[in-house]
Amino acid sequence: MSFSLKMMNNNKSQSNRIQSVKMESAKMKSANTGYYGQKLYRKHLHLYINEKSQRNNMKQKTSILALASYLPDKKITNQDLEKILDTSNEWIVKRTGIANRHIMTDQDTVTSMAISNCAPLIEIAAKEKRAITSVIVATSTSLTMPSIACQVCNHYDIDNAFAFDVNAACSGFIYALNLANDRIKNHQEDCILVIGVDAMSQIIDWKDRSTAVLFGDGSGAVLLNRSDRSGLVAIKCGSSANGSEMLKTESKNGQSQLTMQGKEVFKYAVEKLFQAASNLLSEHHIDVESIDWIVPHQANIRILQQLMKKLCIPEHKLILTLKNHANTSAASIPLALDSATKSGKIKRGDRLLFLAFGAGFTWGAAILDY
Ligand code: UT7
Repeated sequence: MSFSLKMMNNNKSQSNRIQSVKMESAKMKSANTGYYGQKLYRKHLHLYINEKSQRNNMKQKTSILALASYLPDKKITNQDLEKILDTSNEWIVKRTGIANRHIMTDQDTVTSMAISNCAPLIEIAAKEKRAITSVIVATSTSLTMPSIACQVCNHYDIDNAFAFDVNAACSGFIYALNLANDRIKNHQEDCILVIGVDAMSQIIDWKDRSTAVLFGDGSGAVLLNRSDRSGLVAIKCGSSANGSEMLKTESKNGQSQLTMQGKEVFKYAVEKLFQAASNLLSEHHIDVESIDWIVPHQANIRILQQLMKKLCIPEHKLILTLKNHANTSAASIPLALDSATKSGKIKRGDRLLFLAFGAGFTWGAAILDY
């Protein structure tokens, strides 16, 4: 049975059940059934109201109301890196697909990138008279207390929000989306801000050519709301129990610096991303051909090419910002999404597949009708 047919049948049997509870309750109310009868009537009514709100909830999806992103002004090209490292533009482009990256200036901080990012989204929420009830920030490069989420709330005067940061490395944005989806589904929230922000330049060893050429800084954000039309169809995140030594930060000369066993991480990334995507599609009975665009974490063009081949998805469905943004960790998916909607590539109604893999190892996959 197809996924949509199953949903229709579920809805039908639920509405039949509600109808019969409704009729039974009405019968009980009309009969003078005394104390215990009244108690039974209230129990049935409670059941009816509960089922009704559950049914309404099933229709409600986590939807993207608006998007925004921020990249620092300073750009570093492969040619710039040739001057400070034993590397070449040719090697970097061929082995990674990266040509440029944006790096924080003295004026930027991880928090300021997140704050700059949110300004247009806060404006939209205010214009629509929606109160932001949760702010969730995905980041692994912030050492600040209070959290970036709380600093965003302070800056924009968002009071009483459920606000915190989540560290799932490069998969952080999908983890944050998963948490926001739970808030919308289980706490009846209507307006949530999810931000992915990272300053990888702060944790790179700029003398290590095997990692220094790969990363950039930036931030991307989505304003989520409840919708009964389009939105999140499926989402799943997880982690592996054996990857924590292969990609991590270590204290070197009093500074936290990133180290990576690139070749091993590459193999895990292809395999885990493939499993995450294929499991999500099959668990939800979704045909891979219904996916219009893949919006992946941007780590290496060769990882993504191998992944598309394994998933039998044509490469022209890939949204790529790797060339100009490099790997911006938790910011890479919202940055790619914002760039592809602004350029007109991704349109309302398109079905998107988000995929991410990162230190931990963590991974995440989500299917969303935009
Ligand atoms: O976002 C989280 C997940 N991160 C990832 O998924 C990253 C996964 N890994 C990768 O993307 C790739 O493994 C790298 C881009 C990091 C490395 O590419 P590779 O093709 O696996 O190269 P390699 O490490 O096997 O190195 C091949 C050669 C080595 O030289 P020898 O030993 O063959 O002489 C390296 O020393 O390339 C050399 N090399 C470089 N040469 C010029 C490594 N980095 C550079 C460089 N410029 N920047």
